[in-house]
Amino acid sequence: MNRLSDYQTFLTQFLRSYSTTGSVLPSGRALGRALCRHVGAGGGPQRILEAGPGTGAVTGCIIDRMGKDDHLWMVELNPTFAAHMRRAFEDKPSFRDVASRCHLIEGRVQELGQEAHFDVVISGLPLNNFSSDDVRTILRAYAKLLKPGGRAAVIVPDGVLFGASTAHKAIRKMLVENHKLDGIVKLPSGVFRPYAGVSTAIVLFTKTNSGGTRIFTVLPENTGRRDTIRNAISSV
Ligand SMILES: C[S@@+](CC[C@H](N)C(=O)[O-])C[C@H]1O[C@@H](n2cnc3c(N)ncnc32)[C@H](O)[C@@H]1O
Repeated sequence: MNRLSDYQTFLTQFLRSYSTTGSVLPSGRALGRALCRHVGAGGGPQRILEAGPGTGAVTGCIIDRMGKDDHLWMVELNPTFAAHMRRAFEDKPSFRDVASRCHLIEGRVQELGQEAHFDVVISGLPLNNFSSDDVRTILRAYAKLLKPGGRAAVIVPDGVLFGASTAHKAIRKMLVENHKLDGIVKLPSGVFRPYAGVSTAIVLFTKTNSGGTRIFTVLPENTGRRDTIRNAISSV
């Protein structure tokens, strides 16, 4: 199994299941690193949840940062991607080394039953392709799945930040008033090729059940304009 087979699987699934795959190619390393910032950052062992591992591009970044007692659960809806991931845990040495602490679940992440179970949730689901009600359901599911104090990094379409629909407003209210919105990392448009025009961001939040948002910062990534970057991403 190599990068070419990852790309082939991704392209085929994009053509077959466009709306849930959402992208022609797997994520790059820079995006993976931005999503994995909370992995390995806690004091004790972490339970990590990755929604939609696809061919494992972000999973590789998670594995690079996992501590020796950390466990990773991956929830994948598409059976072809799930089979690809099973093979990766047999074939790729870095994946094989941690296979006994990694658990693949086939299904929809919003249907997971656990509550307050995870320290970290990482999501690269193509929420751009989902209705605002479905986006709301998924973000609520992430909040339910996190332990209090657990942290999430979720790729969201700009609608979550600026949309005027009832569902979009409810999502922002939940993030700001029920939990602690830590930051928003604005991603360069076109990060999900070939949708050059799609604007997305990573929303970072901590589950508190009691609010706590004091200020949030929009952090433009790779804009090429140093003056627009108000805080280093590592300070969030
Ligand atoms: C844009 S791809 C991202 C894949 C990988 N994380 C990456 O960054 O390269 C989205 C992935 O989420 C999966 N997916 C979509 N909806 C899902 C859902 N509701 N639950 C679990 N997985 C889902 C897709 O099958 C696909 O593997």
